[in-house]
Amino acid sequence: MNRIFQFLSIAFLFVLVFNSCNKKEEKVQESKIISGAIWKDNNGVPINAHGGGMLYHDGVYYWYGEHKVEGLVGNTAQVGFHCYSSTNLYDWNDEGIVLRVVEDDPDHDIAKGVIMERPKVIYNQKTKKFVMWFHLEPKGVMYDGAKTAIAIADSPTGNFKYVRSMRPNAGHMPLNAGDLIEKPIHPVALSYRFGGSAIPFSTDSLNLVKRDFKNGQMSRDQTLFVDDDGTAYHIHASEENATLHISKLTDDYTDTTGEYVRVFPDRFMEAPAIFKKDGKYYLIASGCTGWAPNASRSAVAENIFGPWQELSNPFKGELAYISYDSQGNYVLPIAGKKDAFMYMGDRWNPTNPIDGRYVWLPIKFDIDGYPYVDYLPEWDFSEYEK
Ligand code: GAL
Repeated sequence: MNRIFQFLSIAFLFVLVFNSCNKKEEKVQESKIISGAIWKDNNGVPINAHGGGMLYHDGVYYWYGEHKVEGLVGNTAQVGFHCYSSTNLYDWNDEGIVLRVVEDDPDHDIAKGVIMERPKVIYNQKTKKFVMWFHLEPKGVMYDGAKTAIAIADSPTGNFKYVRSMRPNAGHMPLNAGDLIEKPIHPVALSYRFGGSAIPFSTDSLNLVKRDFKNGQMSRDQTLFVDDDGTAYHIHASEENATLHISKLTDDYTDTTGEYVRVFPDRFMEAPAIFKKDGKYYLIASGCTGWAPNASRSAVAENIFGPWQELSNPFKGELAYISYDSQGNYVLPIAGKKDAFMYMGDRWNPTNPIDGRYVWLPIKFDIDGYPYVDYLPEWDFSEYEK
């Protein structure tokens, strides 16, 4: 009996030690960012938050993104925007759908089947509201709507209440419009339906901002940026995607003020992301090839309204020409770490959108202080201490 008891105790101890070793190994595996792998949430379900953005609020990261479904229909909004929360950026809790498409009113702005992309959420200190902006395309117009839309919540996990959609800055010419104010609108700008990634003449010759003066400027790929003084900006692909616009928001973050600039005319930049370091503004954006990856762009400015100086493709090495098979969606400042910023990108899967993957990489700064990204197949946040 004693022998059996001794044997069982040793076996039990062995199992305990073996298990704890294994757990340790699992933990190490979890605490890594492996771009392109399947990332699971706390329920073991692959994270579904594409074209995303991140909000850091009261010690918690909230990741918002497009909830995609299987098959070709999956690139339209069938469900809404999904939110996940984390305190360490490795382990993600499913917070559910925070803005759901409307199923019982086919004419609703966010009816099931419209296009809803690139949600970004910022917190307004004055109103205590969480304000979401996203790219909205009404049903049946493909990408011709070129609208932005706003939703508001009292808590970061929603639910968000849909407010309205619009073309920003209606009735205002850009602060740097120069001679576009007097210049006539080119007849081609009025009669031609542009394809989305090219225009026959320069934006200045077409005078697209003047064409869109009355009804508001086009707004497709977009992001938000809150400056140190609490002023927020909407940065969006405008003028048939050829030119980015940077627009100042109202104090409550629910509208544009009419103060905006056009930047990088005719450069066709999409997927904009802005961050600030040592008083300078940096932009990382993609080129304009739809879901297919391309070489990214970067730029720097002393003032968010410019002038902006375009720098090189921030991605280095062999796969730089396709940004490591990704298109950016956000640049996240890592809380509690100085000068630590993370590139967040999508590896889209156009034929099975739910299986799109995420590419997250640390942003580094070269000897001139310019941002660059090296490919790291796997890494953890101690990378920033190197
Ligand atoms: C990309 C854009 C995506 C999506 C896609 C549709 O250029 O960044 O958000 O709109 O085009 O083709």
